[in-house]
Amino acid sequence: MNLKTEKKEQEIGKKSQAVRTKLIERTSQCEEVSLRGQAALAQEVVQTVDLPHPIYIDSAEGPYLTDLDGNRYIDLTGGFGPNVLGNKPEPVEAMIGPQIEKGWHYGIPNGHQARLAELIKESSVAVDEVMFCNSGSEATMFAFRAARAVTGKRKVAMFDGCYHGVHDYALMRADLKSDRSNPINATLGAGIPEEISNDLMMMLPYRDTNAYELIRKHKDDLALIVIEPVQSSNPRLDNQEFLQGLRDVCTECEVLLMFDEVITGFRIEYGGCQQYYDIKPDLITYGKAAGGGLPIGVVAGSKKVMNSFSGADKTPAIFAGGTFSGNPLTMAGGIGMLEYLKENKETIYPYLHEQGDRIANEINEFCRSNNIPAQMMNAGSMMHLIFGSETIESSRDIDHSHYSLEKEFYLHLLGHNVIVPGIHLAFISFAHKPEIIDQVIDAFKKTFEDLREDGYL
Ligand SMILES: Cc1ncc(COP(=O)(O)O)c(C=O)c1O
Repeated sequence: MNLKTEKKEQEIGKKSQAVRTKLIERTSQCEEVSLRGQAALAQEVVQTVDLPHPIYIDSAEGPYLTDLDGNRYIDLTGGFGPNVLGNKPEPVEAMIGPQIEKGWHYGIPNGHQARLAELIKESSVAVDEVMFCNSGSEATMFAFRAARAVTGKRKVAMFDGCYHGVHDYALMRADLKSDRSNPINATLGAGIPEEISNDLMMMLPYRDTNAYELIRKHKDDLALIVIEPVQSSNPRLDNQEFLQGLRDVCTECEVLLMFDEVITGFRIEYGGCQQYYDIKPDLITYGKAAGGGLPIGVVAGSKKVMNSFSGADKTPAIFAGGTFSGNPLTMAGGIGMLEYLKENKETIYPYLHEQGDRIANEINEFCRSNNIPAQMMNAGSMMHLIFGSETIESSRDIDHSHYSLEKEFYLHLLGHNVIVPGIHLAFISFAHKPEIIDQVIDAFKKTFEDLREDGYL
């Protein structure tokens, strides 16, 4: 079946017209803020859907977001991943409330850093030591630097389809014209010197054993192999064999292996993908959930590698720091979050997997029985609806020409009061109880029906 992604404005069907009218009519406060923002902001950093104006959120509670006009939505943004317990979870609030009373930023260390570090260390056999910063991007930047310092080598290899943040060493992509088994590295966006992509970074094929051969071939230059053990662009859990092979080849070649668990840490399992797959990387980055919803990045790993932060055992010391790194408010939020997750992990993680699988199974069954070329991919509570009939092995198999149809889909979903962020990656949380999940599934089905009625599917 063909997907009609090129519908013109004048061809918009009745349902599509109606949802636009409904959303515009009920969001006048959002429109006003949007106009003010357009005059002052170079870039609105968080996008929702392409209405003439975005939705702006006024408050958040549990599984819900409420916009400035008072419309309530079921939240599938998950705050871009951190909100494993939903919005404004009580255990985090109970920690940051008193901390606000005491002040939220001092230049001198606070008592919370050690506790959060202990919690992260206890969560993983691969972690001897921890270093805090303010975002996942900072964490990967420091981790790449630490790996280069400790090995004395220059190149970092990442995988096609992975995302590791916004710094110059992370904004790499595979040239889509290059061989998928031997991808060529290119910079993502303007302003990044090509020398970084040509000389200092390398691209490997994801879920493809040719990656092992490329690592063997370049081992003398490679300081670090970094991977999202579960990719947000291609969320799935059947990666055991590939990741185990990667661990083995890195050990054989004496190249450091890093799991970037900025999204997956404390979400796939309490101990992240390391626990799920029972694999021990040399370095790990965390972010998102580890701060309880406050800005955080974490570099963690074996003593040998983490010595590059302290300069211990004559390891060349890197420069690391940051005005807000380890600030008391974030540390308090992280402790509230991780202590609750740790205490309730036997209930929380099976629930997240069960409900994530339920959404994927029900939607996939609906698509199959209605001949709709779309599939819901998921890794537990993290999911991505992919249009097209291709079997997805790696992100190379995702047909991005359906993007305008996807945007139409999420506009209709918003009309059914379910919100997914502009990157179209959806998350559920422990606050999404079974009756909320029922409503999510129902809204997805209604959205497919809307698009079919208007001739898109
Ligand atoms: C795997 C991964 N690494 C790094 C980052 C960057 O984190 P941040 O947005 O906090 O800078 C992200 C963000 O989504 C991510 O998913």
